[in-house]
This record gives sequence, C-alpha cells and structure tokens, in this order.
Amino acid sequence: MSSKLKSDVKDLALADAGLKRIVWAERDMPVLRAIRERFEKEKPLAGMRMSACLHVTAETANLARTLVAGGADLVLVASNPLSTQDDVAASLVRDFHIAVHAIKGEDEKSYYKHIAAALAHRPNVTMDDGADLVSAMIFINLDRLEALHEEVRAWAKSLSADERKKIVTDVVASMEETTTGVIRLRAMEKDGVLKLPVIAVNDAETKHFFDNRYGTGQSTIDGVIRATDILIAGRKIVVAGYGWCGKGVAMRARGFGAHVIVTEVEPIRALEAAMDGFEVMPMADAAKIGDLFITVTGDMHVIRKEHFMLMKDGAMICNSGHFNVELALDDLTSLAKGVNKNIREFVDEFTLANGRRLYVLGEGRLINLAAAHGHPASVMDMSFAAQALSTEWAVSMKGKLGDTVHDVPRAVDQWVAKLKLQTMGIAIDTLTAEQSKYLESWEMGT
Ligand SMILES: NC(=O)c1ccc[n+]([C@@H]2O[C@H](COP(=O)([O-])OP(=O)(O)OC[C@H]3O[C@@H](n4cnc5c(N)ncnc54)[C@H](O)[C@@H]3O)[C@@H](O)[C@H]2O)c1
Repeated sequence: MSSKLKSDVKDLALADAGLKRIVWAERDMPVLRAIRERFEKEKPLAGMRMSACLHVTAETANLARTLVAGGADLVLVASNPLSTQDDVAASLVRDFHIAVHAIKGEDEKSYYKHIAAALAHRPNVTMDDGADLVSAMIFINLDRLEALHEEVRAWAKSLSADERKKIVTDVVASMEETTTGVIRLRAMEKDGVLKLPVIAVNDAETKHFFDNRYGTGQSTIDGVIRATDILIAGRKIVVAGYGWCGKGVAMRARGFGAHVIVTEVEPIRALEAAMDGFEVMPMADAAKIGDLFITVTGDMHVIRKEHFMLMKDGAMICNSGHFNVELALDDLTSLAKGVNKNIREFVDEFTLANGRRLYVLGEGRLINLAAAHGHPASVMDMSFAAQALSTEWAVSMKGKLGDTVHDVPRAVDQWVAKLKLQTMGIAIDTLTAEQSKYLESWEMGT
C-alpha cells in the first residue's frame, strides 16, 4: 500500500502517456521485475514508511512500484527541478496510487516544499539522489534550522524539539544513488554529523561502472542533440572531468565523430584520458577552441568568467554533473550585455560585450534529464535493482548498522550482474576446481 498523502503533480490528464512509458521501460528492466515479483510475495519492506527523493522518470516509476510491492508506504519527490517527467508522475498517482510531489520546471520554493512533504511522511527509510533529503534531516538534527530552505524550516519549526530529533532517529537507513550524494555523505561522516546509516548504492560496481558510464554517456549526447539538433561529427567537444561519467561522454562523443578534448585536475585520470586517445589540456586552453563544452565533474565553477571570455562565437555549454554549480552562470550573466532566454527550448543565448554569442543548454542543469529522458531503462535496471536489494538488506539489518556510509554487500552486486547477464542471454565460464585451487595458492611459479 502506498501512502494516502496528497500528491502535487502537473496534470493527472497526462497519465495515459506516462503509463505507456512506464510499461515500455519495464520491458527493459527484467532484473528489477524479478525483484518486484519476489517482493510481492515476501513483503520485505512491510511496515516501512519510505520517502524517496529521485529523478521522477519512467525507470524510477518501476523502482517505486517495486518498493510498494515490497510493502513500503512510499512518497516520491523530485531530486532536481528539471528532471521530472510530468506524465510519469501523473500515472504514478492515478494508476499506481503512489504519492508524488514533483513538477518539471518547479521553482526553488516548490522544490523544497516537496522535500518538506517527503519529511512530513516521517520516513523510516529514505532514498536520495544527491543527498538533499538526508542533508535537510541532518540540519534538523543539528538544530541548524537557519541552514534550511524556508519551506523546510517552516515545517521543522512546527515540530517539538523531541519530534525534530526523531526525524533522524526513526530512520533505519538511507540509500544514496549518485557520486555527488556519496561525497556529501562522506563529508557528513567526516564531520561527525551523520547520525544514520547510509548505503552508498552509487559505489556498487553494477551501478557506477554502467549507469554513470554508459547511461550518462548516451543520454548526455542525446540531451545535447534534442536541445540543439546539431551535428556532432567534426565538432570540438570539451569534456570536463574524466571520471565514470566523463569516460562515457567522451567515448560516445568520439563515436559520433567529434574531436574530443578532456580537462582534468587529477593526474591519473588525465593520464588515462591521454592514453585512451583524447587530447588533454587545461580549460583555459580548451576554452579557446571548443565548440561544445560538457562538464561532468561534481565540482563547482569548472567553467567560469576567465573561460567564458575566451570562448568562440557560437560556443555551446552544458552540464551533466549532479548540481547546477559546475558552470558559473552568474559570471556569464555579468559578462553579458544581452540575454535571450529560450531562443529554442533548453537554449539560452548570452551575448558578451565582445559581441560573441554563447549558448547555455538546459540552464546548466543535468542536460540528459533536462532535455532528454535520462538514462535508458536497461542500465537503470541494474542501478535500481541495487537500490531495491540494498533497501531490503538495510531493513533486514535494522539496528545493526553503524551511522556511517556502508558499501552495498558484494553478494548484491554479484547477484545483479549474474541476473543481468542471464537476461541478456550471455553465459560465462566458471572456474574449474584446479583453477580455483591455483588462484588461491602461491607455491606454483615459473
Ligand atoms: N547526468 C547524470 O545522469 C549523472 C549520472 C551519474 C552521476 N552524475 C553526476 O556526475 C558527476 C560526476 O560523477 P562521476 O561518477 O563521473 O564522478 P567521478 O568522481 O568518477 O569523476 C569526476 C571527475 O571530475 C574530475 N574533476 C573534479 N574537479 C574538476 C575540475 N575542476 N576540472 C576538471 N575535472 C575535475 C575529478 O578529478 C574526477 O576524475 C557527479 O556530480 C555525479 O553525481 C550524473
């Protein structure tokens, strides 16, 4: 059963289209489907009030169905103002009776009103994509209400001091979906303020090896094409950050025939990019020659004033990292003598004092979710299988996990990979007894 709480979605009349997309995505999510079928029988999440702060997409809808099948009373809210698929949100409410608070294009006030709705559900289990939910809970726990957005602060102030403490102490565990969220949670742990167990789902190999690389790689290029209709072949594309996402974006851009330049701050990653055959240089050099810039670092102000000033007329700039802080858009606004918003959907034109026009795509928010539909279902099948199984594991470990960031159990990772291979019709070899023994021994040499 899902929560009887109210929902806040754009328009329930969009539900027919959303339902079609949810069903279509499910066809490519066999691993998650197998988990849902088991959850329906075993109800491992029975009695759990759950709040999930995720990109509200067709794939997330299938995760939500799985959690509800497992017995969770779920509230789903947006983890980004531009990533909600309104038709999917409508179908979740109408067809699956799940409480959803998410509207594409919502302003900051609505975004945090939705976070407050997730907290008001008084969850025992939370799921985050970027740690916005947990960080609000931690600020409340620390009584640092001034650090909260006014919408969340107003709600928190309506509680007694005891009730505020319970916001964190009632939580069995929280799952985290993305690199940026894990970085924030580890920083909380380091500062000694993380007062609940967290499972770093992003760090499972069946998650970031595939979702961050192949999912972000494909869907980022998809987002750029949908926003601009440009030909990728022959363009100079600058990819900032050669982590899991950056490798995917660079690989796919090359596949489309782009000349790819990588910028990095970490020497091993920079070396890897160079040996993978990409040109590597500082942003100050790349800024002068790039036609399209894509940031995927999880860092702030990767492209800033000094870089914008060097860019060519017509250069396009976008971000596929989690938060909209990678591009210093305030710098760009202050440099611009004119700004033409929405010269086409997802494209804003900035004309600089030097006459050059720069184009920002998707308001600097993750372009693959703002302008396209995010990762394909087949890859989210693994990420969300890891989410569902991690949730089941964390609930089964209630009271036994310390207030730290935990890895997903290796057995979960292995199970997801095995079933994914099986559903792809791929068989692999197994070690012979002789090989197992050899691999565990040290005596045999030259
Ligand atoms: N768009 C999506 O759908 C999606 C999917 C998964 C992850 N993400 C987000 O993408 C971001 C990157 O994730 P990841 O898994 O690739 O992380 P990662 O840690 O594997 O890679 C980030 C890379 O950026 C580099 N970097 C940091 N600051 C830099 C700078 N100033 N200039 C150049 N390089 C810099 C780091 O050295 C690192 O190699 C995170 O914010 C993550 O949450 C987005």
